[in-house]
Amino acid sequence: MNKTNTQYDSIALQYRGLQMDYILELLRPTYVNLIGELEHKRVLDLACGDGYYAKLFCEKGAKGVVAVDISPEMIKLAEDFNGHESIQYVTSDVADLLGKYKEEFQVVTASFLLNYARSKEELTCFLKVIYESLKPGCRFIACNDNIKDDPSQYNEKIQAKYNYKKTLASSKTFRSEGDLITDEFYNDHIRCSITFPWLSPDTYDEALKTVGFSSWEWQDLHYNGSDNERKRYWEDFLLNPPIICFTATK
Ligand SMILES: C[S@@+](CC[C@H](N)C(=O)[O-])C[C@H]1O[C@@H](n2cnc3c(N)ncnc32)[C@H](O)[C@@H]1O
Repeated sequence: MNKTNTQYDSIALQYRGLQMDYILELLRPTYVNLIGELEHKRVLDLACGDGYYAKLFCEKGAKGVVAVDISPEMIKLAEDFNGHESIQYVTSDVADLLGKYKEEFQVVTASFLLNYARSKEELTCFLKVIYESLKPGCRFIACNDNIKDDPSQYNEKIQAKYNYKKTLASSKTFRSEGDLITDEFYNDHIRCSITFPWLSPDTYDEALKTVGFSSWEWQDLHYNGSDNERKRYWEDFLLNPPIICFTATK
């Protein structure tokens, strides 16, 4: 398989510096809640980025974490800022891990990996790596671009309220398989832009089925805090959220 996503090498520091509110207040609580108990479990964290989750998993009692990213710059940040004796950081394309880990992990996680698959074949390959790495009956938990959102409802004003811009390269109001999506997210000082192809929910379903997962579910984000003002603040975001979580069981 061709070497792929090097987008993060040039934006590693900026990406780490961008602490988006919707990641902190909506995505992380939903994702971490879905991951659940990690005590004494071995975890494979794919597309680990700067290692935030790998370190968190150790703090939550994981027995060991193998954390993989294709970007050497991201892995360097992970080692510098989120090193831990129980984490092994690996620089690799997930696609190149095929056949490497055989039923070694009780949990596999991937926060923003699957949406970088450029084709159904590559998505199937990522999922195969995940499936074969998991022990039977165990779960894969992911965050992802919301491939089920509605492009006709992308609203610049709402997106600007939350400091992001999600656009279809073709500027259509509907998507076709492989159409490029650009995500920009920013604060007063930093702006990051990432491009990836859209693969349809049907393609995900077919790939998951081909690989052998017994069940899977998309999990919407929620605001679970107790601050009513923040709850109201997030209402517009949650009308057509650009990101979503996902779980699949082997
Ligand atoms: C949006 S960042 C997410 C980082 C981290 N998981 C987080 O949520 O903070 C996506 C990461 O996926 C990595 N990535 C993209 N394609 C990959 C691939 N084929 N294999 C391994 N890592 C990949 C990128 O280098 C980048 O670090």
